[in-house]
Amino acid sequence: MIVDDKQEMEGFWIYGAIHAIKALSYVYDLLTFPVYLILQRPWEKRKASRRIKARPISKDDNQITYRGVDSPKSMHIMLEREKVDTLEKILLCVVKMYGNKKCLGTRQILAEEDEPQPNGRIFKKYKMGEYKWKSFSEVEKLASSFGRGLVELGMKPRNNIVIFAETRAEWMIAVHGCFKQNFTVVTIYATLGDEAIAHGINETEVDTVITSHELLPKFKRLLDMVPEVKKIIYMEDQLKPTSTKGYKDGVQLLPFADVIEMGNKSSASANSPKNDDTAIIMYTSGSTGVPKGVLLSHNNIISTLKAFSDAVKIRSDDIFLGFLPLAHVFELLAESVCLLTGVPIGYSSPLTLIDSSSKIQRGSKGDASVLHPTCLTAVPLILDRISKGINEKVKKSGPFRQAIFNFAYEYKLKWTKRGYETPLFDKYIFGAAKQVLGGRVRLVLSGGAPLSPDTHNQVKLCLCVTVIQGYGLTETTSCATVMDTYDRTTGRVGAPTTVCDIRLENWEEAGYRVKDHPHPRGEIVIGGDIVSAGYYKLPDKTKEDFFQEDGRQWFRTGDIGEFHADGSIKIIDRKKDLVKLQLGEYVSLGKVEAELKTCPVVENICVYGDANKAYTVALVVPNQHYLEEIANNLGIIGKNLEELCNSPQIEKAVLQELVEQARKCKLQRFEIPGAVKLCAEQWSPDMGLVTAAFKLKRKAVQERYQHEINRMYAS
Ligand SMILES: *[C@@H]1O[C@H](CO)[C@@H](O)[C@H](O)[C@H]1NC(C)=O
Ligand SMILES: *[C@@H]1O[C@H](CO)[C@@H](O)[C@H](O)[C@H]1NC(C)=O
Ligand SMILES: *[C@@H]1O[C@H](CO)[C@@H](O)[C@H](O)[C@H]1NC(C)=O
Repeated sequence: MIVDDKQEMEGFWIYGAIHAIKALSYVYDLLTFPVYLILQRPWEKRKASRRIKARPISKDDNQITYRGVDSPKSMHIMLEREKVDTLEKILLCVVKMYGNKKCLGTRQILAEEDEPQPNGRIFKKYKMGEYKWKSFSEVEKLASSFGRGLVELGMKPRNNIVIFAETRAEWMIAVHGCFKQNFTVVTIYATLGDEAIAHGINETEVDTVITSHELLPKFKRLLDMVPEVKKIIYMEDQLKPTSTKGYKDGVQLLPFADVIEMGNKSSASANSPKNDDTAIIMYTSGSTGVPKGVLLSHNNIISTLKAFSDAVKIRSDDIFLGFLPLAHVFELLAESVCLLTGVPIGYSSPLTLIDSSSKIQRGSKGDASVLHPTCLTAVPLILDRISKGINEKVKKSGPFRQAIFNFAYEYKLKWTKRGYETPLFDKYIFGAAKQVLGGRVRLVLSGGAPLSPDTHNQVKLCLCVTVIQGYGLTETTSCATVMDTYDRTTGRVGAPTTVCDIRLENWEEAGYRVKDHPHPRGEIVIGGDIVSAGYYKLPDKTKEDFFQEDGRQWFRTGDIGEFHADGSIKIIDRKKDLVKLQLGEYVSLGKVEAELKTCPVVENICVYGDANKAYTVALVVPNQHYLEEIANNLGIIGKNLEELCNSPQIEKAVLQELVEQARKCKLQRFEIPGAVKLCAEQWSPDMGLVTAAFKLKRKAVQERYQHEINRMYAS
């Protein structure tokens, strides 16, 4: 009884308080509206958001092709005027422009210390210092030395070389060192499995691999699978010496600094690449089969750089936080734009990014709090985590704060849609969230996978940042489209950039046609200088996906999109994600997953549709915290994750949540999973169930859980 009373009282107070705030904000709106109207000129923002960005240039029954309307901007024009057409020339050019300005920064690790945890365990944590910077001139000198060092080591023209390392300053130095000698760099994701790594190294016939202290031990096993490899260069750890014992005989292991020193003394000359030489063979994990090497020429990369600098407003006073894998073309491009604009890049890692990151000592600062970056790149997975993190924090802050937060959120959502800013709420309500990333972030570039509108809005509103989404593939050297800075919509990826055309082609089988109303729909085909020449040593696959037309290279993406009236694209499906069920209905598995992923209990999900069945089933990796909550509500206590996942009662409750969510999103009956299996293990690239960019590998997931899938359909 007492409890009830208390809750009632609390409810009453909250209700009263919210009411008062609403009334106040109403009066505030009335008073400030005329001022804001004049100061913020919302109509201009609304107009800028609706601006036409691309127009059709050709059209028939089967296809429609769009081209952007914008003309090249100053950086793009400068590169053409100065004939900067390779990455080697980029580095020389930026040294001339920015010389002693800060270029690449590495956070100093001072010591590793034991930190006792409340539960009695002891974790190793870093004591960290400031960022230490290398200037543009220093980076260029180091790259030159590294390139000459490789020549001294016996690297010959036409040799490929592998970089297999996490993102860090030495990665950039190494890659530019290779460009100076016209060595083609093979990049492989650090998170791939052994087989895939060995495949990339084997196929490109390299004898020299550049790796890092952390990844070197992998080669104890790998070297037997890649007999050609004779030299391994490792980037050192700041604290610990690297053990070179236990590796195959006859393989030489050298520290990165030694190669630089060899090059510093060497008089080998540079061997500049040409515009159409291959700069990088980038192994993409792909969602099926073995990884494919995508050939990227200097021309491809310079073209995207031009497009990127036309589309994204990076300013010379920006500071960039680099932490996505550089083996991902999107990050490499973003960092290259930073070089070009004279923007310092401070490197970080998921282990040290924010104050609460796992390697940061209690009470000390994460990289973002020290660097105070203004822009960064992210993949949707990271933004989803941030968004879920905010929700959880708000939920834990108690009903009163939660109510205020929700009110502020709705308020801001409403007014920003109309083109207004909300400076007071930004300062007093959302200010704290912004501090997590150092307090100054203004621009987040998202790529790699479609970003859900909910997450897009939440990150934009709560962190008070601009979130720009782009679309492209490794085969198109990342961005083929980028959202306009003034575009305030969500769920779309922007219009074609200044260097490519985008075509939609009918895909009859699933009923996507360019004649569709209200928007033309079809498979996205991209043409222009950004399109790769093809896959390394895979002529058949290259022929299947690439073609030449009017002297341009085109690539069939397998993604389905629609063009909106302003020339922006929305990605609506993927060919591979579509299955036809027993009664002939097509289900877009990707779409269903995207909707169901917004359920708090869902950490990851794979929907499966059997062609001989009339409905789908779902494999779900649950959010442990939320699953425990569900268990508590059902009175199930003291079970571990595995036991919870195996409980039929909990399975039923989760299925219920999925069905409710599916109904809310207006999914069709046959799209809604009829059964669910909870998977206790996280799906990681190591297990081969998701790609390095965390896209589902359907086939692998299906094979692993075939038994469960059969059981679900049988039940
Ligand atoms: C650069 O190397 C490639 C082979 O990797 C070769 O075909 C090309 O001719 C070289 N470019 C120059 C300018 O020497
Ligand atoms: C690499 O090549 C060697 C011999 O050429 C072979 O034994 C090994 O299985 C290959 N590994 C992979 C992963 O293809
Ligand atoms: C390169 O050599 C010069 C002169 O011998 C020396 O001053 C400089 O520190 C060296 N640089 C590196 C990176 O070893």
